Amino acid sequence: MEKEILFSKEAIAGRVRELAAEITRDCAGRDLVVIGILKGAFVFMADLIRAIEIPCTVDFTQLASYGSGTVSTGSIVIKKDIGIDIEGKDVLVVEDIVDTGLTLDFLVKTLRERNPRSLKVCVFLDKKMRRKVPFTADYTGFAIDDGFVVGYGLDCNEQDRSLPAVYVIKE
Ligand code: IMP
Ligand code: MG
Repeated sequence: MEKEILFSKEAIAGRVRELAAEITRDCAGRDLVVIGILKGAFVFMADLIRAIEIPCTVDFTQLASYGSGTVSTGSIVIKKDIGIDIEGKDVLVVEDIVDTGLTLDFLVKTLRERNPRSLKVCVFLDKKMRRKVPFTADYTGFAIDDGFVVGYGLDCNEQDRSLPAVYVIKE
């Protein structure tokens, strides 16, 4: 598949530093638990937590909304739950991309029922125009237009997650 670069490695690194600085300021003194959504968020989360200058614990959850390819099915299930108790904790959910909003809307509602002290969401990419349910992240790396993107953890049929830059797939 043909692809075109959207965000270079350097542009990503710069933006991650800015996000981490914001989070460091906002969460100083907090008992921070960073929860990554597998698999897409693992690259972004690895860079982000190393740039956040406060101690944190990490965990992962895996949800399914996309069967395969580039078309959303709409229904969401927990494939892997977190293994820690978040009651009274300051939670930061980290996701690769918010598209329809269904995944994060579901996860945020699910995690809120467990009574964290606070819950914020940091997304690397945001396709604002494609929402099916309203959702606004607390921290956003880049807002992008419609179009399927890969790299920096994001995949197309499990391919291209290891690319260090972000590319948009050409039709
Ligand atoms: P949502 O529930 O529609 O917001 O979908 C979010 C999930 O869809 C993300 O976690 C991604 O795994 C996947 N996704 C949406 N758009 C893209 C894309 O352009 N590239 C790769 N994955 C995407
Ligand atoms: Mg995902």
